[in-house]
This record gives sequence, structure tokens and C-alpha cells, in this order.
Amino acid sequence: MKPLHDKVVIVTGAAHGIGRGIAEAVAAAGARIVLADLDEATGQEAVRSFVNEGREALFFGGDLTDEETCGALIKKTVADFGRIDGLVNNVGAFPRGTLEETTGEFFDRVMAINLKPALFCCKHTIPVMKSNGGGAIVNIGSGNAYGGSPNLLAYSISKGGLLTLTRNLAHAYALENIRINLLNPGWVLTEKELEVQVAEGRDQAQLEERAKHRMLGRFQTPEDAGQTTVFLLSDAASQVTSQVVNLGG
Ligand SMILES: NC(=O)c1ccc[n+]([C@@H]2O[C@H](COP(=O)([O-])OP(=O)(O)OC[C@H]3O[C@@H](n4cnc5c(N)ncnc54)[C@H](O)[C@@H]3O)[C@@H](O)[C@H]2O)c1
Repeated sequence: MKPLHDKVVIVTGAAHGIGRGIAEAVAAAGARIVLADLDEATGQEAVRSFVNEGREALFFGGDLTDEETCGALIKKTVADFGRIDGLVNNVGAFPRGTLEETTGEFFDRVMAINLKPALFCCKHTIPVMKSNGGGAIVNIGSGNAYGGSPNLLAYSISKGGLLTLTRNLAHAYALENIRINLLNPGWVLTEKELEVQVAEGRDQAQLEERAKHRMLGRFQTPEDAGQTTVFLLSDAASQVTSQVVNLGG
């Protein structure tokens, strides 16, 4: 039997990049899946391709920094699929900014995107998981949480916050059979990451050269994050909670 057979899983930020790869892996592992994203057109197109492959999938569009929108996502999932077994909080953004460049408006925006969707999706999902008898949550963090690059100050602080959110909630809901872990992907050259790198003056060829010097000799892919997420959501990880899983490659 597939590892997520018949489980209902929400993936946020699932239209592009790592979230899209996680959604594909989770759907291939047998889950019924809800893809949530701000980008309606690409998200709907992703759902159509999943459905064409025989998966059960639906799209929810909206800005997940808004608590009401997170509540509506959870309500729609329960209305359509009846339960929630897994939640992957992947929405995030990594705009560059040193201390000198960090304004109040910039800081608030980075905190909002990187923390509020996870906070509010957990807040509205956990009561549903409690009534189901349990569930699993995977938050997508970053190695920048442990200090981070000087030009990623606000981002690094926000990912540190996500680490704390993960551990706090994992302890609060462990006895409700709700497991919560943080997955730190390595360097994934998503479209957005490539855009940021090009804006900083590096081209694809230079980046490919740098990737060769990484420990496993390549960039990671969204699928790499997807496979580890499937494990963390599955019953095979039933004793794994409050952990940080680093994809160190
Ligand atoms: N790319 C990397 O190398 C890397 C490394 C470590 C961690 N991460 C983390 O992985 C996650 C995904 O990164 P990515 O490179 O795939 O980024 P991405 O920009 O390709 O994807 C982010 C997705 O989130 C959606 N989104 C953004 N704001 C939203 C909002 N307010 N409401 C709903 N949806 C929203 C976007 O439309 C997009 O589909 C982020 O949390 C990022 O911090 C990325």
C-alpha cells in the first residue's frame, strides 16, 4: 500500500517550486490533496495535471497571510474531503536585505509571509486533527534559522521563528497524537531562487558550477524535499516529532 494511502493532505504555496514538488510527491504517495496558493492560474493548472494522472486533488486560492483565508482553506478541505491528516506549511519568501537595508515595512512583510500562514493554518487545522485522532504537520524551514546570511537578516529571523513555532506546538499537541516537524531543504534552484540569483549578478552557468562544489555535487530538487515530506507525514515516522530534518546534501 502507498505510504499516504487515503490520507488528506494540504500543501501551502503549492503552485511553484518546492511546494509543487512536495505536492507531486504527496499525491504520488496516495494522498488526496489540497493545493493552496496565491497564484490561482498556475495552481489550477497543477490540479488539472494531477487529476489527469488519476489523483484526487483540488485547489484553494488566496493570501494565506490572512487568518480568515487560512480558516476558509481548512473549512473547504473538511467540506470536500471530510478530514485532514497532513499539513505542509511551505509558503515563504526570501527577499534579500542586510541590517542597514531592513525597514520596518520590509521586516513586517517578511515576517508575515514566512510565519502567519504556518501559524494560522496550524491554528485552524489542529482542532480538526484532534477530532480525527491525530495528524502530522511539516513546516518548511531553512538552515538560515541558525544564524543565516548577512543579506538575509529578516528571512533568517523568520525561519528561526518557524523553528520555535514547530517545537512549541509539537510539545503542546504531542499527547493528541499530532506530530510536528521542521524540514530544512538545501539549496534548490527554483524559478524564484534563480530570479533572485540573477538579480544579484549570477547566471545559470555560474550557479551550476557552484552546485558542483556542494557536498553531493548538485542542487537539490523540489522532489528531494517531497520524498522526505512523504516520510514525515507517513505512519513510518510515527515516533518522529519536534525534530529538525536537515537535507544537508
Ligand atoms: N529555494 C531554496 O533554495 C530554499 C531553501 C531552503 C528553504 N526554502 C523554503 O522553501 C519554501 C518554498 O521556496 P521556493 O523556492 O519553492 O519559493 P517559490 O517562490 O518558488 O514558491 C513559493 C510559493 O508560495 C506562494 N505564496 C507566496 N506568498 C503567498 C501567500 N501570501 N499566500 C499563499 N501563497 C503564497 C507563491 O505563489 C509560490 O507558489 C519557502 O518557505 C522557502 O523559504 C527554499
